[in-house]
Amino acid sequence: MSSDGLSLQYQGILLPRETHSLECLEFAQEFKFRDDDIMAAVYPKSGTIWMQEILPLLLNGGDLTPIQTIPNWDRVPWLEEKRLAVIADTLTAPRAMVTHFPFRLMPPSFHASKAKVIYVMRNPKDILVSSFYFHQMAEFLDDPGTFDEFIKKFLDGNVMFGKWTDHVKSWRSAELGDRILFITYEEMCQDLPAALRQMSDFLGRNLSEGTIQKIAQHCTFKTMKTNRMSNFSLVPKEYMNLEKSLFLRKGVPGDWKNHFSSEHLARFTSAIRKEMQSESFTLPYNLD
Ligand code: A3P
Repeated sequence: MSSDGLSLQYQGILLPRETHSLECLEFAQEFKFRDDDIMAAVYPKSGTIWMQEILPLLLNGGDLTPIQTIPNWDRVPWLEEKRLAVIADTLTAPRAMVTHFPFRLMPPSFHASKAKVIYVMRNPKDILVSSFYFHQMAEFLDDPGTFDEFIKKFLDGNVMFGKWTDHVKSWRSAELGDRILFITYEEMCQDLPAALRQMSDFLGRNLSEGTIQKIAQHCTFKTMKTNRMSNFSLVPKEYMNLEKSLFLRKGVPGDWKNHFSSEHLARFTSAIRKEMQSESFTLPYNLD
């Protein structure tokens, strides 16, 4: 592991130093997964905090207490972040966590367990736009530069957690059988109750339609924006400056259209196509 300014190099990917250290990465590698653990694996800016809202509600039959009393980072912690070592013992079964790790970095005990994973995928063009604004407001990340420069960084994988294509490919080829559910951010936006039903069935929860509807209401973009335990307003301004950009910024598919020129689009599409060409699965997105 080497460190450079605000980032650490770890196993070929960049990680923010503010939230990651050699110690916590070792802690993650030694973390003991249990069979009833639930994991959301999400490339950054694809819906991580949305899953931090959804999972406790699904796992506790729609009980609002966790989402109203515990900040998202302690409620459904990141496997790889410093905070896990502090709060791991406070998590109650079934434990829910999130990770930005590509599959190859999952710890040995995960492979030995029956822990389930929900992989959330988002249109990479919208991830890029979301990440561009996030880099402007997160004071612990490098300045993104111009939008044009940031496209290059993103396509080269010089952003936190590396290339989007590597992340998707790693989890798509993970061969976890019925331990993994693939869902997209766009499906969740289009019909949240349907996405929740799918997740609930996958997690073996027998939730009534009334409970699903209640959970959906509490997980809308609008409701989450007002939840102080989820909107990052508890975080000091020196760390995340919400005056520059809100964390819950737009919450819609397709904002890329307001940012990409035709030249950006051609460059982006050609690079992603090239990376995906030998894959046996097709992306659920028209890249043009
Ligand atoms: P935008 O910047 O496009 O608005 P992550 O949590 O992985 O960092 O992802 C953040 C992105 O997910 C942001 O996208 C944020 O607005 C969006 N998001 C979070 N909760 C959402 C919700 N309930 N509905 C729609 N989008 C949501």
